[in-house]
Amino acid sequence: MRAVQSNRSDSSRTSREHDGSSVNEKSSHSEIDKSVRAIHTPKLRLENVTKSYGAVSALRPTSLDVPAGEFLTILGPSGSGKTTLLQMLAGLVTVDEGDIWLDGKRATHSPPHERGIGMVFQNYALFPHLTVAQNISFPLEMRGFTQSEIQERVRKILEVVKLSHAADRLPQQLSGGQQQRIAFARCAVYQPPIILMDEPLGALDKRLRDQMQTEIRRIHKELKATILYVTHDQEEAMSMSDRICLMNDGRIEQIGTPLDIYFRPQTIFAAEFVGTANVLGGTIHSISHDTMTIRHSGQATIRARLRSGNHWSVGDRVATITRPENVRVLTQDETAENELSVVIEDAMMIGPFTKIHMQTSDNVAVSALTVSIDKEGAFRQGDRVRIGWDINNTVALADRSKQ
Ligand SMILES: Nc1ncnc2c1ncn2[C@@H]1O[C@H](COP(=O)(O)OP(=O)(O)OP(=O)(O)O)[C@@H](O)[C@H]1O
Ligand SMILES: [Mg+2]
Repeated sequence: MRAVQSNRSDSSRTSREHDGSSVNEKSSHSEIDKSVRAIHTPKLRLENVTKSYGAVSALRPTSLDVPAGEFLTILGPSGSGKTTLLQMLAGLVTVDEGDIWLDGKRATHSPPHERGIGMVFQNYALFPHLTVAQNISFPLEMRGFTQSEIQERVRKILEVVKLSHAADRLPQQLSGGQQQRIAFARCAVYQPPIILMDEPLGALDKRLRDQMQTEIRRIHKELKATILYVTHDQEEAMSMSDRICLMNDGRIEQIGTPLDIYFRPQTIFAAEFVGTANVLGGTIHSISHDTMTIRHSGQATIRARLRSGNHWSVGDRVATITRPENVRVLTQDETAENELSVVIEDAMMIGPFTKIHMQTSDNVAVSALTVSIDKEGAFRQGDRVRIGWDINNTVALADRSKQ
């Protein structure tokens, strides 16, 4: 913004000096326009991009804007089109229809080396006969950097990934997590403005994954790169991302911040893929200003808030979504805004929390996640209990599966 303001004062002074020259006025405006456009131009844009392999639609028409510096996670089940999307961006797979824009320039058919995109794959693909330092030097040598510049960059990136001490080792003398960090360093060392990562932590155990997630976030901040990160692990997606792009069957199901997707899922698929969801189907019985009442097949009545943008009518089929951590097992004299009578199927104490699996009278599975209490047999199989939750913790969604 500062650049825009200084442009304006510089050029207005020039205009005055030249006694109101409209040419200068125009050029100042075009400078401002350029700066404003630069601020608003996404780093990366997909516009109705598609890809088919024979009869398989790997990617249906997909549009997506990614601003500079964003950490965007592509999340979705196996076969949903995540790798296809990344490979098209990198130029490794051709686009059937639509366009790819990088920094506002059309790059749909540009060769991979002209796109300024680095890619880290799941299998690290390090050169086994080269040392760590040689592995990292490789992309710099390919790009014609001088020897002194190569040495300096390799030294710096090894510091960033905290592996300076391992510069002279061969990949096989490193742990899986260390090899992964070298694969990332080899990509980051030539500072591509966009880095694509396809399930880079898939082969690591839980503890190493946790460490690497933190490392990648730290390095992302330090390098200020735009990162697209593929995973099918919803917790990884929620903990790492600025935004999550949830994919399903070659389409973007929902895109938003982790909080958007978790608390405001737009489809039943999104609610069930990210976190655990209690899904109860029913029909709208009545609507009064900001609340709707839904009659479930088990005859229970559930209330949910009306969300702006939704156009509901009495009689519409809906599904209500409630997260297990918002469900309470009610004591005898306790009441809640939404209540349901259920039978306990199973209770699992997992340290700080207890997962309670229950069933409604019409055999719908529901679950609650509560803080564990030190009481033997607090939740016994076969017990009939009432559960309850707040209206504000109830999301109503169109239930297309039943139409
Ligand atoms: N080269 C190919 N030839 C034929 N079909 C392909 C090819 N590549 C991908 N597909 C198909 O396209 C669809 C999307 O595949 P893609 O690899 O993008 O999925 P994904 O989301 O990355 O899955 P995963 O999580 O298993 O890696 C799948 O049905 C897949 O079988
Ligand atoms: Mg894949």
